[in-house]
Amino acid sequence: MLKSAPVLPANKDGIAFAAAILISGRPVALPTETVYGLAANALNSDAVEALYAVKNRPKNNPLIIHVSGAAMAAEYVEISPLAAKLIARFWPGPLSLVLPLRPDSGISPLAAAGLPTLAVRSPQGVFAKVIAKMKRPLAAPSANISGRLSPTTAQAAARALANKIPLVLDGGVCAVGVESTIIAVENEEMRLLRAGGLPREDIEAAMGQPVRLAAAAAKPLAPGMLASHYAPEALVRTEAKKIAAGEALLAFGGKRAENYQQAAFMLNLSEKGDMREAAAHLFAYLAALDADLAKLGKEGGKNVIAVEPIPEAGLGAAINDRLRRAAAARC
Ligand code: TXA
Ligand code: MG
Repeated sequence: MLKSAPVLPANKDGIAFAAAILISGRPVALPTETVYGLAANALNSDAVEALYAVKNRPKNNPLIIHVSGAAMAAEYVEISPLAAKLIARFWPGPLSLVLPLRPDSGISPLAAAGLPTLAVRSPQGVFAKVIAKMKRPLAAPSANISGRLSPTTAQAAARALANKIPLVLDGGVCAVGVESTIIAVENEEMRLLRAGGLPREDIEAAMGQPVRLAAAAAKPLAPGMLASHYAPEALVRTEAKKIAAGEALLAFGGKRAENYQQAAFMLNLSEKGDMREAAAHLFAYLAALDADLAKLGKEGGKNVIAVEPIPEAGLGAAINDRLRRAAAARC
């Protein structure tokens, strides 16, 4: 059993190889600016089916379709004036838009989970190069098993999906570190479905209108909205102002929680309190503390990662959202 999937550098040969595997219908893990994604040809239902199987993802969780820009998106979704304005301002980048699916789109119904809408986004970097090479839209969830931490390095993706995928392209550490912000555009209004790498405040400032918060629905609008998601093995305790002996401490900023000296391990998301740096470190540091605690092989009670309070503004909304989900009781 391989402990890790094959990893290749994201150079010209690597990109051509990844495109060839994708054309053949098998999924490949690729870097985006947010997190590593597990890509499959969105026009091929067999390829999309294989992607759901690799991730062990429930089939009622629709996927984000990655495109090369507005022109490719327009082949699959209806782009209203407000959506066009968002696209002109923020693509390529960490913003996914949920828009009406065109009836003749050709997108695998499995990718859209049978919904009349489709989430589309135009990523930066290596992923964009692969789309350009393929000239096809790529469905891509984060390259992890459903419910676990999202990978922000090629090695984390390769470990998470070892034995399940033929290739991970290595494009280095993801610059943003948390998944895209998801906005639904309806009747020329914006609704936030998931806080992410593009702060809501930035969207409101650029568009000159509010981004409404999604009303709490009986059925989650986005599986990222399920409570127990992004879970490490250890329990996660947020807003920690006092540390108990043996806990791992995920710190933030220059001021330490009470009794921090008792922590078994400590990593600081950003000593200078920079939100971008904190978001970029979030998943890798949670995974590292989780691995450190696992090595202790603590008997009885569960290991705990205590997280210092993080301000809610800007990228803090996405960081705190992921932490709250990691802290939620496991299903
Ligand atoms: O940054 C990202 O968005 C990364 C990278 C790889 O691009 N992808 C990602 O995908 O986070 P995933 O599958 O982990 O999250 C996709 C989210 C899910 O919560 C899903 O429910 C939501 O998008 N979604 C997709 N289509 C939707 C739709 N039509 N309506 C509402 N939510 C939708
Ligand atoms: Mg995910």
